[in-house]
Amino acid sequence: MIKACLFDLDGVIVDTARYHYIAWKKLAKELGFDFSETDNERLKGVSRMASLDILLEIGGINMTQAEKERLAHQKNEHYVSFITQMQADEVLPGAREFLKACREADIATALGSASKNAMTILDRLKLTDLFDVVVDGTHTTKAKPDPEVFLKGAEALKVNPAHCVVFEDAEAGVEAALAAGMKCVGIGHPEVLNKAHLIIDGLHQMDLQKLNNIQ
Ligand code: G6P
Ligand code: MG
Repeated sequence: MIKACLFDLDGVIVDTARYHYIAWKKLAKELGFDFSETDNERLKGVSRMASLDILLEIGGINMTQAEKERLAHQKNEHYVSFITQMQADEVLPGAREFLKACREADIATALGSASKNAMTILDRLKLTDLFDVVVDGTHTTKAKPDPEVFLKGAEALKVNPAHCVVFEDAEAGVEAALAAGMKCVGIGHPEVLNKAHLIIDGLHQMDLQKLNNIQ
């Protein structure tokens, strides 16, 4: 029996995955190399500093910690310039509706995101009240695929992980959900998310019946 749904943010609730991509691509260009959409799959769900490490590995570049911090800050400034302009229609189709349906059915809801910008986005798009609990990059020390973010969410909701379903668009996120002992719905490409229990294009394809049928 499903008692809680835990949602990743970027690429599941809001259409921000492309802003992360644009911001990383710009940084790569400034550093003198190209960064493709395929490369970007490796960054989804991964914390800011870990993402920068992957980016630098792709570019074959070594840097001091101080330089890395400067670049991570620069990428974030660019990203924040996008999210502070976001409009209500950038909430992904069906997300608001499915969150409401869960709450009406007494299924608890939590956000489980690696992003330190999560609250900025939720507040701007007036989504904050749809979550019973928010766990984001300011509360976690271990990045997905570590299950920390989802285990903290389940603990705060007081729900056993076995009764939780995670919604994720990233391979690292699916792995984190499974490592937490939870069910997982993958959102996006089946090639990337094949370990998930169910794969859909977006929350507009989700309903409570499908939720309870997840094996
Ligand atoms: C999410 C995104 C990642 C991003 C991470 C950290 O998990 O999928 O692409 O790097 O959050 O986001 P932040 O907003 O803290 O840089
Ligand atoms: Mg995501």
